[in-house]
Amino acid sequence: MTFSSHTWAVLLAAGSGTRLADACGGRRKQFLEFQDLPLFWHSARTFARVTAIKGLVFVFPPEEIEACAAQVRALDAANSLGLPWLAVAGGTRRQDSVRNGLAALPHDCGRVLVHDSARPFMSASLVQRICVALEAGAQSVIPALAVTDTIKRVSGGLDGGRVAATLLREELAAVQTPQGFDLALLRQAHERAETEDWQVTDDASLMELAGSEVRVVPGEACNVKITNPEDLRLLEEQAMPEVSVT
Ligand code: CTP
Ligand code: MG
Repeated sequence: MTFSSHTWAVLLAAGSGTRLADACGGRRKQFLEFQDLPLFWHSARTFARVTAIKGLVFVFPPEEIEACAAQVRALDAANSLGLPWLAVAGGTRRQDSVRNGLAALPHDCGRVLVHDSARPFMSASLVQRICVALEAGAQSVIPALAVTDTIKRVSGGLDGGRVAATLLREELAAVQTPQGFDLALLRQAHERAETEDWQVTDDASLMELAGSEVRVVPGEACNVKITNPEDLRLLEEQAMPEVSVT
């Protein structure tokens, strides 16, 4: 095994869940329960089923970091992840949380998967797909799905605004996490984001801005990001995929 050859995952759980807060009593969505376990734990377990993943960094809200780390210790004691893990404090924006997670990765880590804990239904096969593409030399790999709606650019808001353009659907893709990266390149892209004030909603955007190639693999329709109140019904109905991957 060469130096810096391991792949770790950074699991983002430091957001405030503003769009859902009213519908779930102000709780942060990543701590809502599905099948009696907190949402963030579902993707942790899925990562742990993939042998290419060698460790996990949980990124939690700074003001709850001690309690969250204790919760992970208890969950791990009850049902071992079988992986080393760390818990670190997140930041104000998603990209700040990612940056903190990347800073905590060990020296023998050369590749990283960054995942939204608000996507609890990711499958182990998807994780595996990303890992295989990275091991084959890709700098960045993201899961993408074809768009089925017609997408328009609208100015002036959705209530009374106007259509400025209709985008060519064949060229569009809905992008998910986990997103996989060469760690050194992703760290460099995050450094540039600080100096050049790039504001993004995913990590691949930073790699694009840095001029790096971003490869695409098929995403999964089930890999929904719990975002709006109507998504809460998925936590009542959907069954977790239980595919084992080695
Ligand atoms: N996230 C994070 N740190 C932040 C913001 C977001 O770790 N400062 C994480 C969230 O916990 C979530 C993922 O990034 O798992 C995707 O973000 P999003 O769906 O936007 O979650 P929130 O920011 O929590 O929700 P909202 O935007 O509605 O406030
Ligand atoms: Mg957000």
